[in-house]
Amino acid sequence: MKIGIIGGGSVGLLCAYYLSLDHEVTVLTRRDEQAAAIQSEGVRLYKAGKAFNAHCSAGTAIDSGFDLLVVTVKQHQLRTVFSMLERIKKTNILFLQNGMGHIHDLKDWGADHSVYVGVVEHGAVRKSDTAVEHTGIGAIKWSTFKHAEADRLNAMLQHNHSEFPIRYEMDWYRLLTGKLIVNACINPLTALLRVKNGELLTVPAYFSYMKLVFQEACSILRLEDEEAAWERVRAVCEQTKDNRSSMLVDVTAGRQTEADAILGYLLKEAQLQGRDAVHLAFLHGSIKALERNRNKVF
Ligand code: PAF
Repeated sequence: MKIGIIGGGSVGLLCAYYLSLDHEVTVLTRRDEQAAAIQSEGVRLYKAGKAFNAHCSAGTAIDSGFDLLVVTVKQHQLRTVFSMLERIKKTNILFLQNGMGHIHDLKDWGADHSVYVGVVEHGAVRKSDTAVEHTGIGAIKWSTFKHAEADRLNAMLQHNHSEFPIRYEMDWYRLLTGKLIVNACINPLTALLRVKNGELLTVPAYFSYMKLVFQEACSILRLEDEEAAWERVRAVCEQTKDNRSSMLVDVTAGRQTEADAILGYLLKEAQLQGRDAVHLAFLHGSIKALERNRNKVF
């Protein structure tokens, strides 16, 4: 199958490497230099101290020649991608963003494409324009969102690479909220308190903040099994105890964070439901203030 990967960040390069083992892959980037580098060198994957190369094409224009487009850019970069996707012929589009801010946009999106959404549970760090390190083996999980018929695509995405499982899930809301609750509990607090994930479990005050965030987010999302969701949050914190969350890394690097994608979605839902969400609003306001003050010297 002809697959276009939109975005040349860590997730884009990771998907490009593994999917190119079975498919004809083109990486679609914003910058000409990155497209030129991938076109001449391919994509390199580092894993457990070894390097692997895959041949991929690259370009900067999104056109109608793909059976599947995988959108890997961050949620705050989606606006320009949407307008480009509106100009191409009907195809399959899989959105792999953190958070759920894009869900409000996708619901209102008039384009006729078959739309799928998914989550990435791998650890990956971009090393250069053409290289990515696979730091943690997880899975890609995806589901049908609208106008979509997943059976054919699911069959075509089956493969035997145990380090890059791709799993189809029946319920997109369950899939995305399962990850959102984890990111909502861990990322903003670690970014604000400047601590590694594990400290949310070991410092009693931080643990109680996390529980407050969990309770608020849970009631907004109307999760079916709150106990299982809390267990998952604790388990991810424990498994990633020595990691800095992606939001802490973004704040430290002075980059825009995924606060709108994660907390913004929850706050908008709370507003639609006529609920207060004081802890989430406090966290969202604080992270946005850090983003605005990123160049400030004290
Ligand atoms: O965004 C992140 O950093 C990760 O999804 C997680 C699971 C919170 C671990 O750091």
